Amino acid sequence: MEIRDWAMRILSADTMAEKLLEPEALTDALPGPALLWKTPSRPLGMEFSLHSREEKLPPFQDHADPHKRAICLHRFAGHELLAVEIMAYTLLAFPEAPPSFRKGLAHTLHEEQGHVRLYVKRMGELGVQFGDLPLYRHFWMHTPYISSPMHYVSMMSLTFEMANLDFAPMYGKSFMAKGDAESAALMATIVRDEMAHVRFGWQWLRKWKPEKHSEWEAWEHTLTSTLLTPKRARGFYVHEDTRRSAGIPDEWIDKLKNYK
Ligand SMILES: [Fe+2]
Ligand SMILES: [Fe+2]
Repeated sequence: MEIRDWAMRILSADTMAEKLLEPEALTDALPGPALLWKTPSRPLGMEFSLHSREEKLPPFQDHADPHKRAICLHRFAGHELLAVEIMAYTLLAFPEAPPSFRKGLAHTLHEEQGHVRLYVKRMGELGVQFGDLPLYRHFWMHTPYISSPMHYVSMMSLTFEMANLDFAPMYGKSFMAKGDAESAALMATIVRDEMAHVRFGWQWLRKWKPEKHSEWEAWEHTLTSTLLTPKRARGFYVHEDTRRSAGIPDEWIDKLKNYK
């Protein structure tokens, strides 16, 4: 299947099976004209909630309650589904991007589909089905600001996915502390894959940044034409090791930690 067709099927899907469609082989011979997708279709009952303000996640002290953990997993699954859709959006928006970038992005999308599956399975074991709770527009509202592949890596890989290097282990630790080793193992899988997604973005940022700019400058400058600031690339505590494993240099990590 052509990457373009795959991305279009994901964005116009009205079943989860179609959202999570995994073609046996992907080709990219016909990336077609650029296409800016407005809003992804969703299975019935899984449309974006009309409430743009997200309900607060259950606090950490409530994680002993399996239902509260399931609520967290449902929210994370929603984020993963949005990641799938944003990656499909980007594949359609930038047919002229380097084929190796598109191939890497398609691979990342495939892993995000896997993450949706993992969360859906685990929340089901805890008694919640995907779609039982509201799903938010959240990351999707940033798609109009993805005006180049450089914007994609700056916003998605190096901001949202990088922040998950702080959030995912924090939840994993909390689930483990409440005796839920399965959910903790799931979060560890997410962290491992997220490191690769951050590395992907870092490598392309290095290729695309203007020579006169450092990586940090190029990233920060790119974010100025979006709704994001560097603060969105970190959680409450900046995990250094996972960033280092993703290839991020200490200088960048220090800047991120100290960014006011
Ligand atoms: Fe993911
Ligand atoms: Fe990711």
